[in-house]
Amino acid sequence: MNEELYIIANWKMNPQTLDEALALANRVKEGVANTQGSKVVLCPPFPFISYILPSEHVEMGAQNCFWEGKGAFTGEISPRMLKELGCTYVILGHSERAKYLGETQEMVRKKTKAALEAGLRVVLCVGENEETPADAENLIVVYEPEWAISSEGGDAADSKLVAARIAKMRETLKTTPILYGGSTNSKNIQTFLQAGAQGALVGSASLDAEEFISLVKNAVS
Ligand code: PGA
Repeated sequence: MNEELYIIANWKMNPQTLDEALALANRVKEGVANTQGSKVVLCPPFPFISYILPSEHVEMGAQNCFWEGKGAFTGEISPRMLKELGCTYVILGHSERAKYLGETQEMVRKKTKAALEAGLRVVLCVGENEETPADAENLIVVYEPEWAISSEGGDAADSKLVAARIAKMRETLKTTPILYGGSTNSKNIQTFLQAGAQGALVGSASLDAEEFISLVKNAVS
């Protein structure tokens, strides 16, 4: 099994200006520059991606992509375009996309296939009652119950529940890293790692540079 830790920042539709996005990214890059033992990935909104270059310690990702490679798909972005901009990761299947945009599991499956074929690492969100996917090279799975997401007014899942869910997913996934997502912060990150998560998908705590840097440091300590 891959023992590396993954700390993946999901900025969602934040911040609102390029200046703020650059300041956040630059501070994070500086703050984690001497921290070994985890892969740190920033996933900003699409328009900011091309302004933020990956660094030695911070890789770049996107929050979505389309399943077709090119063509008449107004508003969509192909996996190849993301690679062109320096992305190595893409988050797929986030519950907010199902909730607000009607994204279905079938769409997520098609997107996952296309992104993996394009050579991106897919950070696939799996909710409480969703099926665990099969192992695949370059796949990372996140156990992320919708009710635990901070913007839903949720509280982080109990670490015993996370341990049980990860153990259940491990019956299917032998080699794929399994992360946890939902109200993680610098104070609770260790409890999820101790529960067997190999990292976290971090939402609101990734928008505060100092908090996110502390989260990364506490994860590897
Ligand atoms: P949160 O978001 O850390 O703010 O709960 C996590 C996510 O939605 O990916």
